[in-house]
Formats: sequence, C-alpha cells, structure tokens
Amino acid sequence: MTNATTRPASDYPPGGDAFRHRHLTGIAQLTPWEISYILDAAEQWVDLNRSGAAKHDDALAGLTIINAFFENSTRTLLSFEIAGKRLGADVVNMHAAQSSVKKGETLIDTAMTLNAMRADAIVIRHSASGAVQLIADKVDCPVLNAGDGRHEHPTQALLDALTIRRRLGKVEGLTIAICGDVLHSRVARSNILALTLLGNEVRVVAPPTLIPPAMERMHVATFTDMDEGIAGADVVMMLRLQNERMDGAYLPSAREYHALYGLTPQRLEKAKPDAIVMHPGPMNRGVEIDSSVADDPARSTITEQVEMGVAVRMACLDILTRRTRKVPGWN
Ligand code: NCD
Repeated sequence: MTNATTRPASDYPPGGDAFRHRHLTGIAQLTPWEISYILDAAEQWVDLNRSGAAKHDDALAGLTIINAFFENSTRTLLSFEIAGKRLGADVVNMHAAQSSVKKGETLIDTAMTLNAMRADAIVIRHSASGAVQLIADKVDCPVLNAGDGRHEHPTQALLDALTIRRRLGKVEGLTIAICGDVLHSRVARSNILALTLLGNEVRVVAPPTLIPPAMERMHVATFTDMDEGIAGADVVMMLRLQNERMDGAYLPSAREYHALYGLTPQRLEKAKPDAIVMHPGPMNRGVEIDSSVADDPARSTITEQVEMGVAVRMACLDILTRRTRKVPGWN
C-alpha cells in the first residue's frame, strides 16, 4: 500500500538524477522534489516494518554502517541502528563516552580513523554545529547528519514531514506552529527549512529569549503569546527546553514556563479542531506539554513519529548507498 500523496516513480528524473547528493548534511541542501523523493521511498519501508514477523530486506547486505554518536541519544541512535539492520547491513555503534574522543583525539583524527575502517556510510551526531560537514569533507563514504549542535537534524524533519503527510493527507498549505526552545533546537531549524520549502505557513512561538534572531529571513512569523501563535494551526509542534545548551538563565522557572507556554488541553482548543500535536522527544511532561495531550491518540503523533523515523532512515540509507552499490542508473 502507498499513501494517497505518493507520486509515481515516473514523476521523478531517472536513476541518480532524482537525488544527486553524496551526503545528507542538512535540509538546506535539498529541493522540495528531493524531500518528496525520500518521503515516497520511505512509504514502502513503513509497509515492510508493519508487515509482520520477517521485517527484513537485503538491499544493504554486506555493507557496514557506523553510527558515531558524540552526544547522547535514545531514539535517533536506535532508529538508525534498526534501519540499517532491517536493510541487511552490518551496523556498529560508537559512543563518544567509550571512545578516544574522551582521550583528546581531534575530530579530524576520529574521522580519519572511521574512514580507514572502510565503512559504507557513517551516521554522525555531534554537539558542535558544522562538525558533520567537517567529517563529510574528509571521508570517502556517504555521511548522514543525526544532529549537529543547533544546526540541523535533517532526518527528524523528514520523519516529521512524513508523519504530517500521512496524518493530514498532505504537507503543503498547512499552518504549523513550532513552539518552545527554538533558539537551541536543530529540530526547529530543519523543520522550518523543510516545511517552508514544501509550501506551508510556519510560525515560531516562544518567549522572546528563546527566539533566534532574523527569523523573518527564514520566512516564519514569530509569536511570544502561545494562544495567538497556535490559533487556527493544523499542526502544533512542541519542543523541549534544551537546558544542556543554555549557558545562562533564559527563563524565570519551569513552572512559569508551563503557565505561559505549556500545551494544555484548554490551550490546544485554540488550534484547529482536528489539529495534530507533535514532539520529537525526549519530552518533559508537565513542562512544555501535559500528559493528557501527549497521550491522546486522536491528537498526538508522538509514537507515529518514532515509527516514521525508522522508515525515513531506511530510505536515506538506501538512497545514499545506491552509488556504492552500483544500482543501475546511479553512477
Ligand atoms: C532532539 C535532538 O536531539 O535534537 N531529539 C531527537 O533527535 N529526537 C530534540 C531534543 O533533544 O530535545
């Protein structure tokens, strides 16, 4: 089964012309067509993942994927690991806490070490914005950004777009409010890029201290009042307060933050009656979102986002390794 909005393969340029990039470092590099191409490719993996006991394809059999995570992660790391394994690849995980990074090795030396092991794809998460691009420039295989500092988290934006498309039947012409700690969020940045590119009206809703400068250049409207910001929205996307990235006091208290910006059932009534609620996780229940909203299956897409994450990452790993695998038409 494919989604109603999936385009036929004949709509795209043939073979490798449909996706010309060697790496996936950010949404900023992609066109709307390339985003649709990945989302459409992910649909078949949603079907496979839901198909029963034997959720396995051998497209990537014999390939080695390294997940190099220099920063903590639960769902992104697991999701990339499961995605690689479902496609038949050998997947190894490197956690910074157990690596030579803790011994003072430079990022370039770590990159050269990973490269010497002749991986077929490297998935990287790093606390520094731009670190993934730096490594991508040094290694011979495709590199996928699993989140770099405050910069980008492209697979999160792709899985969010797929979730919206499946839930609301389209991911264009919608009003989408991204609420919370936008300043420190790579999820917000990648989502703003992807969702505006696809033709949606994107709003940012946050306390003045957590709105990045020059938002108008990203074609988004900013709101400091939550009720106004989510009024009439089709999608309300909540973000965690990223305390680990805050180097000072941005907010009086978590309690006051919840009073002004927490998503409660009453506040959600300001959005469209059938609006969906998203959150990339991890959630801080009772701070940016109430449990009664997060756990409402009619509104919340939070577990579906996790499910779409596996399918989208399978699509990205498949597409980016086609040149190495010498798939016909992918030179
Ligand atoms: C996000 C991240 O790491 O950027 N989480 C995720 O990937 N699902 C958001 C966050 O940490 O709050």
